This record gives sequence, structure tokens and C-alpha cells, in this order.
Amino acid sequence: MDLTDKIVLVTGSTRGIGLAIAKRFSAQGAKVILHGRSEPSQDVMDQFPADTKVLLGDIADAETIQANIADLIEEVGQIDVLVNNAGIVKDTLSIRMSADDFAKVVNTNLTGTFNVTQPIFKHMLKKRTGVIINMSSVVGLHGNVGQANYSASKAGLIGLTKTLAKEGAKRGVRVNAIAPGMIASDMTLSLSEKVQESILAAIPLNRLGDVDEIAQTAQFLVENNYITGETITVDGGLAL
Ligand SMILES: NC(=O)c1ccc[n+]([C@@H]2O[C@H](COP(=O)([O-])OP(=O)(O)OC[C@H]3O[C@@H](n4cnc5c(N)ncnc54)[C@H](O)[C@@H]3O)[C@@H](O)[C@H]2O)c1
Repeated sequence: MDLTDKIVLVTGSTRGIGLAIAKRFSAQGAKVILHGRSEPSQDVMDQFPADTKVLLGDIADAETIQANIADLIEEVGQIDVLVNNAGIVKDTLSIRMSADDFAKVVNTNLTGTFNVTQPIFKHMLKKRTGVIINMSSVVGLHGNVGQANYSASKAGLIGLTKTLAKEGAKRGVRVNAIAPGMIASDMTLSLSEKVQESILAAIPLNRLGDVDEIAQTAQFLVENNYITGETITVDGGLAL
């Protein structure tokens, strides 16, 4: 699929990896729809054409986000590509993790992704075309100390990806996931210097990933029409 004039919705696209994907797709000629819980800053809007639309809403609030998506589809007529990027972390050892923090992370990363995907997947099946990309993580494949809630949610996304890939294939809808390792973003730069140093020591390529290296992978997954149900690891060798 060529990105020119395609309508692309990227969740959590006001910063970090989501913003990088939105910028790369916009540069390829796509009409990007940004998404955030509140209106993006002028600084973000200035990086996109003046008529760029914004979907608002917390992805964990099924009723509101699905109503806003229904209005959006009515307005734009078609969504060709959905990138489910929005996500949160609330790390601590599993024996200390509150039920609330477990539920919050799963409700956002996994159930929230389902909330956004369901109406758009239905719309894509009807149109018999579409691409969905889910942002998983290497810890969804391999687990990580202190991330029981996050790794469970990201592993769940891989199961969701494979199931939707099977359900969508005969109607021309492809669904894939990306499993980033440690990417330089607000999420990772908020870690202490000591933690960042220990992570760096575990990465064979000896650096954090750049947000655009994830965006490049998202572009590849849109453009290659013969990949579905796949999870691509982009981690500088971290999981080797
Ligand atoms: N940075 C990394 O090293 C890394 C590694 C693996 C996976 N990931 C995944 O990549 C994605 C983006 O990560 P990032 O590093 O850019 O993080 P980030 O915190 O910089 O950005 C996350 C975005 O999601 C939005 N968001 C969070 N919860 C939301 C909700 N309930 N409703 C609507 N929007 C919500 C935030 O507002 C923000 O814009 C996440 O899913 C993350 O889990 C990141």
C-alpha cells in the first residue's frame, strides 16, 4: 500500500514514537489524524498541514472513544491505516503491584487498543481494505522484572494482532505488531541515569533506538502487502 493520500490515524501521537510515526507518514503524503486525550499543543499542530484533524479521548473509556471514532469515520469517510500506539507504564515488582495499577495498564494498553480497533476494524472489513499496526514491546515477547502488568498487556496485543490478522485476511485487512526495545522518548528518558546505563550495557548495538526507527518499521508494514499477523522486533539486539 502506497501512503500517498491515505487516511492514517495514530493514537497517542502528540509526542514520542506516535508523533514520529505521524510525521513520517505525513511526509510520505498521507493525511494523518492525530489523537490525544486533550488538544495537541500549537507546537505539535505546526508540524502538520493546517487542515489536520484530531481525534480526542481516553482510549480506556470505551463509550467516549468509540462515539468519537464513529463521528470521525462519518466526517472523513475512510480510515486506511490505524496505528495503535498509545500506552502507559506503571512499573514495580509483581509482589508489590496493586490490583489498581495492574488493571490501569491492561485497561489502557490492551483493552484501550481493542476499544479503538473494534469500530475501525469493522469499517475496514466493510471497505475490504486496511492496515492496522499495534505497538507491542520486546517485554511482551520475553517478559521483564518489574513489568508484570505492562508485559502482560503487550503480550496480549500480540494475541490480538494474530487473531485480527486471521479474521481480516480474507477481506483485505492486514494486522501486524512492532516490538520495540529501548527507544529514546519521554517514557525512557524519565528513568534514572543509573537505570539508563544498565539498559545501555545490555543492548548489543550500544545505543537506545530512535523514534524514527520505529516509524520506519511502521511504514514498511504499511507498504509491504504480504505481511500479516507478524510481530517485528526493533531492539538493537536487546533480546538476543
Ligand atoms: N519508548 C520505548 O522504549 C518503548 C519500548 C517498547 C514499546 N513502547 C510503546 O510505544 C508506545 C509509545 O511509547 P512512547 O515511548 O512514545 O511513550 P510516551 O509516553 O512518550 O507516549 C505515549 C502516548 O500515549 C498517550 N496515551 C497514554 N495513555 C493514553 C490513554 N489512556 N488515552 C489516550 N492516549 C493515551 C500519551 O498521552 C502519549 O501521547 C507505547 O505503547 C509504549 O508502550 C515504547
